[in-house]
Amino acid sequence: MEVITSRDEFRKATSDVRAGGSRLGLVPTMGAFHEGHISLLRAAASSCDVVAVSIFVNPLQFSSASDLAQYPADLDKDISMAQAVGVGLLFAPSAQEMYPRGEPETRVEPGPLADRLEGASRPGHFTGVATVVTKLLSLSGRCRAFFGEKDFQQLALVRRLVADLDLDVEIVGCPTVRESDGLACSSRNRRLGPDDRSAATVLFKALEAGRDALSTGARQSAEVEATMVGVVAAERRAELDYAVVVDPVTLGSPASLSGELRLLIAARVGPVRLIDNLGVK
Ligand code: PAF
Repeated sequence: MEVITSRDEFRKATSDVRAGGSRLGLVPTMGAFHEGHISLLRAAASSCDVVAVSIFVNPLQFSSASDLAQYPADLDKDISMAQAVGVGLLFAPSAQEMYPRGEPETRVEPGPLADRLEGASRPGHFTGVATVVTKLLSLSGRCRAFFGEKDFQQLALVRRLVADLDLDVEIVGCPTVRESDGLACSSRNRRLGPDDRSAATVLFKALEAGRDALSTGARQSAEVEATMVGVVAAERRAELDYAVVVDPVTLGSPASLSGELRLLIAARVGPVRLIDNLGVK
């Protein structure tokens, strides 16, 4: 595995992969690998000849310096995990390397998809995500890029960004990986103490209750949402931000409760804000 820290070298290495006739898979990450990341790397390896992973904790997508400082980092461990699953290129630039002129003056504004839900709670977050994803896709060139469904709003807006800007990239969404009790794998889970860790399963329980309400004939979104709210309300360690049923493409209210839908939830459990979602048909 080649470990690369410079943008120029990464651009050259990815273009060499294509020049050699190989298909490139890119997995953009912020490191601190868990099973969710490993499943993205495996998905990339199963359909691409060479897998590149980027590890960059993007300051632009954090609203405060303390949130950024708390983000876990363990590059040595990430390197050995990436090596173990056959990654070919690991790109781990510094902030100075990614943003050599300081904070970029040009940013990618993702539009209405970014305004609600996570965007409402974390102003500027998705502009930071869209800007760094555009840079990473520009550096890697034509590829398949793999993103987890766990960050469903991020996946939806990256798909829209690629379509709107005609980027030569195929976006592949991969299913959320869960612990045995249903908690979605996330780098943030490490900040949960034992009691909060156990309380955090309430997010998935609420999603399951929402899904059950739909399958047993709920006719209105409000009914499904009230069911999810009720489950979270019963867990005193959890403070709900939102629990909604949305259209999976627009992330707006669905025209009807038929066809594909997505249940999205966000709640604070102890010191950690968690998100999760579930697809329903
Ligand atoms: O999902 C993440 O880890 C980040 O938001 C991403 C896509 C790597 C951009 O920094």
